[in-house]
Amino acid sequence: MQEFTNKIEMKKLLLFNVNKVPIFLAIPLIGMLLSCTQTTTNTMSDTLQTIHNRKSVRKYTEQAVPKEKIDVLLKAAMAAPSSKNNQPWSFYVITNKAMLVKLSEQLPFAKMLAKAPLAIIVCGDNTKGVTNPEQSLNWALDCSAASQNLLLAAEAEGLGAVWTGVFPYSDRVNAVQEALQLPEYIIPLNIIPVGYPDGEQLPKDKFNLDVINWIE
Ligand SMILES: Cc1cc2nc3c(=O)[nH]c(=O)nc-3n(C[C@H](O)[C@H](O)[C@H](O)COP(=O)(O)O)c2cc1C
Repeated sequence: MQEFTNKIEMKKLLLFNVNKVPIFLAIPLIGMLLSCTQTTTNTMSDTLQTIHNRKSVRKYTEQAVPKEKIDVLLKAAMAAPSSKNNQPWSFYVITNKAMLVKLSEQLPFAKMLAKAPLAIIVCGDNTKGVTNPEQSLNWALDCSAASQNLLLAAEAEGLGAVWTGVFPYSDRVNAVQEALQLPEYIIPLNIIPVGYPDGEQLPKDKFNLDVINWIE
């Protein structure tokens, strides 16, 4: 970020003082200026590439996910927006094989957990930020934003992941709360198995002009 800001400052400097720059300096400076523009464009396109490359990955190799990468995923999740910046989330990082197998047995659509090296459970913390009944589901919106950030970070780190649904199905919520001995105010939204992809999955093209409404 610092580097990016410096480059912007450099661009401004060049634009405002261009008539004072001798010709022998001007040519390399113009080259640098062009490379700044290139860097900005690449940064944008990396972000968009990650968004468009993300796909649900349900098969993983046995390779463990290093702790540094897990931290990257959690930091990305916590960078998400949340209502009134309440950050009503709580993350459970599961690498315990027996627990992964137990969860896979409890959840009909999360069988891949049994073979995943890691799962992150994104939970809402109902003690944070609920001051009236209308806000009672905000945690699910906030945790969804965090989950999507986590999925994108996994893609960017060369990992595969998939959102497997827990909330709003009460049987699944109860099963996860019971397996992890969670207090009742901690509500699991989803379980995200993560690992190095086994095989190549392609992203789906979902762009659909029919769902766009222009009001001009
Ligand atoms: C709220 C939600 C619940 C989901 N639940 C499951 C699930 O229980 N099991 C599963 O395999 N995938 C689940 N998915 C993943 C979707 O099946 C997947 O995102 C969808 O098919 C689109 O594919 P893509 O993620 O590759 O773009 C869920 C996704 C969301 C957003």
